[in-house]
Amino acid sequence: MVRLILDSASGSYPVLIGTNVQRELRAMVTRLDPTGAAIVTDSNVRPWALKVAKAINRAGLKTAIHTVRAGERSKSMAELADVLAFLERQRIDRSGVVIAVGGGTVGDLAGFAAAVWQRGVRLVAVPTTLLAMVDSSVGGKTGVNGLRSKNAIGAFWQPAAVISDLACLKTLPPANYRDAFAEVVKYAVAMDRGLVDLLQRERERLLAADSAILESVVFRCVAAKALVVAKDERERGPRAILNYGHTAGHALEAASGFRVSHGRAVAFGMRVAARAALAMELCSKRLVETQDALLQAYGLPDKLPRVDPARVLAAIPRDKKARRGKVAWVLPRRLGHAEIGHAVPAALVRRVVTRALS
Ligand SMILES: NC(=O)c1ccc[n+]([C@@H]2O[C@H](COP(=O)([O-])OP(=O)(O)OC[C@H]3O[C@@H](n4cnc5c(N)ncnc54)[C@H](O)[C@@H]3O)[C@@H](O)[C@H]2O)c1
Ligand SMILES: [Zn+2]
Repeated sequence: MVRLILDSASGSYPVLIGTNVQRELRAMVTRLDPTGAAIVTDSNVRPWALKVAKAINRAGLKTAIHTVRAGERSKSMAELADVLAFLERQRIDRSGVVIAVGGGTVGDLAGFAAAVWQRGVRLVAVPTTLLAMVDSSVGGKTGVNGLRSKNAIGAFWQPAAVISDLACLKTLPPANYRDAFAEVVKYAVAMDRGLVDLLQRERERLLAADSAILESVVFRCVAAKALVVAKDERERGPRAILNYGHTAGHALEAASGFRVSHGRAVAFGMRVAARAALAMELCSKRLVETQDALLQAYGLPDKLPRVDPARVLAAIPRDKKARRGKVAWVLPRRLGHAEIGHAVPAALVRRVVTRALS
């Protein structure tokens, strides 16, 4: 088991990563000394939520579970209203706690409910997908989707504690597990050279979800994210490095009508960014090749469904990170180090995107 403390402008909190960590979860919740606890989960994760409830009950704290339908569609205002009604029924007051047991969907929804209920109650995150463990459960971004736009309504609300139980990953659908490696490769290439080596060395064990090695990988990803969140909680500067691969990635996701998954789209986005950096003589050919090999090795091949490059290109300036029409790209300089705020000439963007799609 490993533990780290994430510091942010709005407070510090522990992040614990281990296997079968019910005891630690109970201790952590007990330490928060809440007046009540309400668990939010989804239909696929309910067995894990029951385990969490049992662990907490043993500490003498009663808890109820609200189960939403699995899937991104539950990240909605309608579902938020239901979650808030649940918190009201459970009489969760300012000293109560919301416990999110699930992937990024449940985490974002329950996190936002915790941010607005009684103007903010404490949130304990129990992520159950690899993506949620390495990315969405830490950093404090919460929210739901608008009718047309993703993550349009939300708040920054840091959790009081994050507890990742790697045992949960055993039941995760393989495609979701593999997809999360796009974010892992992102941290490695953009921020952590040692993680690149680890990913190259331990492919077999990682693809088999070996807990011992996953523990170090999740730890390194959280540590990388913690480093930038500590400096820039609200994404006014350095936190933007976490968008490596997401500029062209989001564009492909949207242009494909979300047929391309987030992970595969980010893998595409990293390929595009690295090729742009190479053309601008900002990185080596070796970096591009190493990154390609790594993505391939983790089941993120460059074969994509047919998507019209023109549609992807048209979607790039609409990316929410675009400032005054100019897109600030995150480009890799060497393995383990990327830079934010680069301008890439439009003709070059067109060339690399078109090639990456052919
Ligand atoms: N807040 C942030 O900083 C942040 C960052 C990245 C992504 N996100 C958001 O996260 C969401 C995607 O997260 P996700 O990939 O975790 O998706 P998800 O929460 O929808 O989970 C994917 C699927 O796996 C199921 N599942 C979850 N854990 C399981 C387990 N242990 N065993 C079996 N099935 C399980 C879920 O029910 C769901 O069907 C998106 O909405 C995205 O916008 C947020
Ligand atoms: Zn992402």
